[in-house]
Amino acid sequence: MLLKLTILPGDGIGPEVTEGATRVLETVAESFGHQLHLTRKDIGGAALLSSKDPLPPDTLQTCLSAQAVLLGAVGGPAFDDFPSHLRPESGLLKLRRKLGAFANLRPAVCYSAIAHRSPLRADLIRGTDILIVRELLGGLYFGEPRLIQGASGDRAATNTMRYREPEVDRIARVAFELARSRRRKLTSVDKANVLECSRLWREVVTEVAQDFPDIALSHMYVDSAAMALVMRPADFDVLLTENMFGDILSDEVGGVVGSLGLLASASIGGPIGLYEPVHGSAPDIAGRGIANPLGAILSCALLLRYSFRLEREAACIEWAVGRVLESGNRTADLARTGEMPIGTTEMSQKVCDAVTELARAGSVQRAAQEQSV
Ligand code: IPM
Ligand code: MG
Repeated sequence: MLLKLTILPGDGIGPEVTEGATRVLETVAESFGHQLHLTRKDIGGAALLSSKDPLPPDTLQTCLSAQAVLLGAVGGPAFDDFPSHLRPESGLLKLRRKLGAFANLRPAVCYSAIAHRSPLRADLIRGTDILIVRELLGGLYFGEPRLIQGASGDRAATNTMRYREPEVDRIARVAFELARSRRRKLTSVDKANVLECSRLWREVVTEVAQDFPDIALSHMYVDSAAMALVMRPADFDVLLTENMFGDILSDEVGGVVGSLGLLASASIGGPIGLYEPVHGSAPDIAGRGIANPLGAILSCALLLRYSFRLEREAACIEWAVGRVLESGNRTADLARTGEMPIGTTEMSQKVCDAVTELARAGSVQRAAQEQSV
């Protein structure tokens, strides 16, 4: 198969982790007989510096003519004082909108090899396997009006949380479908005791549930969900929520499973999927070659699964990552005192080696089966 991808390294540790992830993609392509066609373009701060636009037309065009997009990260302190339309983040938000990527999937699995990285007790996080389904194109992120107005000293700021029924309906259907391939449990998170948006959300989700009688649906308020995620994370299966709540809860879940550096995401729903690690640009460690590439690497697994239906290849990457961790390999964010951390390139190479070995041993079928259990 020909896989035509656009790579957007972006800012901070973005270039380092996408470089590692690209190597893994190349190894997968080689091992499974696919052909990769990669085009790299600037986004975010990198694009602001090169062309004063966080999403230059050329970048957008290249993304629109690819089959899938892999992004590193955007943002950095140098741009903190820029007006909002000229911030690196606005490039990413515009790209999500242009790609029609309304469904953001953020899986969080507790790998036993690094369970000690979690601030929670081992018995609490054992077996944690959550899929956050975050609505990505609505709510406070995109609602109009949005502005700061008034005279200095008396200014007022407005953002708008707005959801239309079809927007809730389509993301709910994605979440219910995904629940079918998992443990058939769906928790919809809202703030229906206070917000109209959430009341509508709850009504629509309840309606959609009628088409999925095999899925156990429950509703939770976001404050209570935030607490339950640290008290009993293993009870969650699919967690469906709106844009802003999903942004917050997905970072929380990253902490729960021990490292935000491991979290991958897929933004799908439109014709072209966008895949990115959840961790962000981490400017404090950028350029030092110590960033954890596993979030970006696991995002490639999601890319192969959701954009190309290459389940064997996706499972191979996930299995390789598990194996590399079990063999004791740690980047700095995962290492315990006394453990010698390895760098971004070395960690990526370890995953490549595991992929090659696994593909050669022909045990990919088994890996795929293990993943789907
Ligand atoms: C994320 C990030 C983004 C978001 C930022 C960088 C715009 O925090 O993907 O979670 O808020 O969606
Ligand atoms: Mg976030």
